[in-house]
Amino acid sequence: MKAPKRIYQCEQCGGQQPKWTGQCPDCQAWNTLIESVAAAQPTSARHTSYSGEAPRIIALSEVNPAEAPRLPTGLSEFDRVLGGGLVEGSVVLLGGDPGIGKSTLLLQSLAFNTGARKIRALYVSGEESSSQIALRAERLKVPTGDLRLLIETGIERILALAVSERPQVMVIDSIQTLYTETLQSAPGSVAQVRECAAQLVRFAKATRTAIYLVGHVTKDGALAGPRVLEHMVDAVLYFEGEVSGRYRLVRAFKNRFGAVNELGVFAMTDGGLREVTNPSAMLLSRHDQPVPGSVVMVTREGTRPLLVEVQALVDQSALGNPRRVTVGLDQNRLSMLLAVLNRHGGIATSGCDVFANIVGGVRLTETAGDLAIVMAVLSSLRDRPLPPDLVVFGEVGLAGEVRPVQGGPERLREAAKHGFKRAIVPKANVPKTLPAGLEVIPVTRLGDALGEI
Ligand code: TYD
Ligand code: MG
Repeated sequence: MKAPKRIYQCEQCGGQQPKWTGQCPDCQAWNTLIESVAAAQPTSARHTSYSGEAPRIIALSEVNPAEAPRLPTGLSEFDRVLGGGLVEGSVVLLGGDPGIGKSTLLLQSLAFNTGARKIRALYVSGEESSSQIALRAERLKVPTGDLRLLIETGIERILALAVSERPQVMVIDSIQTLYTETLQSAPGSVAQVRECAAQLVRFAKATRTAIYLVGHVTKDGALAGPRVLEHMVDAVLYFEGEVSGRYRLVRAFKNRFGAVNELGVFAMTDGGLREVTNPSAMLLSRHDQPVPGSVVMVTREGTRPLLVEVQALVDQSALGNPRRVTVGLDQNRLSMLLAVLNRHGGIATSGCDVFANIVGGVRLTETAGDLAIVMAVLSSLRDRPLPPDLVVFGEVGLAGEVRPVQGGPERLREAAKHGFKRAIVPKANVPKTLPAGLEVIPVTRLGDALGEI
């Protein structure tokens, strides 16, 4: 087989050049040319090596839409993020800072599958030696009898061995250490990462092997991070949280087989990652006595309702241009809510600095937090605490109306489960049957809501 031709492709306009230059001759962008391989001829072994079938066009109605079988991962929180387990033939990218627990999570899951469920699994490591992996397995106290290991970084050799090994699940730890002989650039460069991932995706689709790709996100956001792969894989999961902290969140940023933004919560212990099945309890800080500027709201992460504390601090400003500082929510949203509070609630914050924070490192990505933010601001401004058994949610519109949000009944159930006694919610969100022990106060205007407190 002839060696594939090397070309340089512009990341911006897609133009191809035979030689590297600092500026793309087509679109004039600087530093956008990266090395890649010219598309191989259809006869090339690259596209036909795994399945002998010739491609053919079929009618959509001929396709059997049966749900692809899913492999449980052994951790219910991990299953949840994947949308109910790992889909056969899918490629999942697991990204995160070094040392956050990617290898630990995947080793735990593979050991569960080989041990308890007799699934053929292959763990390919380009980072650690076999004894390091064995040490970790010993620490995790997982059965490792049937788990197969391969310490290798050449993608061609890995795939050749995988074809004969025929695993059902394969882990590549990490994609940044792999290289293909067809490219000259160093392992970890954009071109290498992209080409190796493309070969692995082709392998997964042709052989129905499920593949996890581990990708490091570097602090300085290096280009060769896993971001270049996001469009090639079926699911992108990222580890969030602090490496030094105890809790680890795994979030789905893209999932062709499940809900995006789905969150799995884990705790890192001496014996590996443990699932946290009731994260609301962990996120609520529960003050000893009620404090001003704090209110609990029910947000939703993917399909799961989650109780979080919204805090606000309103302080006399020494600046001509008072500050609006937010952590975990959109700053413009806060400015808008303050304007609504002024016009429709008659409460001015123009001479004050306003700080708003979502406790526990959670990011509010939905509008259901509006009402809670407004109430926290008012509570801090007046220096009067809100009742500790109160939860709030609802979207606030520019006309001062309180609009319903998705999933009202689940949110109320979650609040009742955690012992909250009162809920101020949009009128249209009040369900026919209320959860036991929860008094629900429906509101339609911002004024009504402020009147209630
Ligand atoms: P690791 O999975 O190696 O991280 P990554 O692959 O994402 O780089 O996890 C490393 C960290 O986890 C390390 O700091 C030690 C800690 N750890 C535990 O606290 N308990 C354990 O049982 C294991 C295996 C690791
Ligand atoms: Mg690792």
